[in-house]
Amino acid sequence: AKLSRRDLRAVAELIKSGACKNVVFMVGAGISTAAGIPDFRSPETGLYSNLARLELPRPEAVFDISYFREDPRAFYALAQELWPGKFKPTMTHVFMRMFADRGLLLRCFTQNIDTLELAAGIPRDKIVFAHGSFAGQHCIDCMEEFDRKTLEEHVRSGTPAFCACGGLVKPDITFFGEALPPEFHGSLHLLEEADLAIVMGSSLSVYPFAALPQRIEEGVPRLLMNMEKVGEIGSRRDDVAWIGECDDGVRELAEQLGWWEEMEGIWKG
Ligand code: OAD
Repeated sequence: AKLSRRDLRAVAELIKSGACKNVVFMVGAGISTAAGIPDFRSPETGLYSNLARLELPRPEAVFDISYFREDPRAFYALAQELWPGKFKPTMTHVFMRMFADRGLLLRCFTQNIDTLELAAGIPRDKIVFAHGSFAGQHCIDCMEEFDRKTLEEHVRSGTPAFCACGGLVKPDITFFGEALPPEFHGSLHLLEEADLAIVMGSSLSVYPFAALPQRIEEGVPRLLMNMEKVGEIGSRRDDVAWIGECDDGVRELAEQLGWWEEMEGIWKG
């Protein structure tokens, strides 16, 4: 399927025509900023520019496994703020769910650990948590599972939790220096089956995730909805780069698809 023009309307027309039955999303922190969760790299509002109080050698150290072993306090302080439960999915999350409801969602590859995809009602088996999530917790030495409630108490008080073996406990979030979860590698082959790829809210700066859009076959439309131009999306004939807030782009698409009212209903709960 080819795009008639390189704009949102053309993408909506393509979806309406029934040509997109295996849609892949690739998303990052920018899809959750409207929910009140800061992203990482936006100047001023991003987490990495607001970590001075944690006195880190560099901002990324908060998610670095060797630094965590040395001093887990910074991560625990941050986890306090990011602990799931207090945030509500955005319209962009609901938009992805609409594809799942219609049987059009092949996979949602997310770098986010906030699990708002699940909260929006996207089935677990349609989501690839590429950087893990807060959904589980293990000892970083013996790998034993740790009690969720106990970890939650530790996170709330900002004091690191230790396993019976003496090792540190960490939520199952992928840190720099750790391997990505098996579900990431096990799902890569799906990218070849995609007939539409939508990238939203990511700076595409962390690999291997950042390379996913390049795995979409030539000729398959790729849509970027982001506050800034990222990666090489825009370089192919069937690329659409839409710059702005993803909730706005999603609304425009949803209105053209006739999905908006249903989405508002779901969002309001
Ligand atoms: P970044 O903070 O690097 O990028 C967020 C992107 O979303 C930027 O390009 C923003 O301009 C854009 N953005 C922000 N708000 C937006 C909005 N409302 N609408 C559209 N775009 C918006 O976040 P990620 O790319 O997700 O890794 O970062 C990747 C990884 O780096 C994270 O998973 C995390 C971090 O270190 C780990 O924790 C392992």
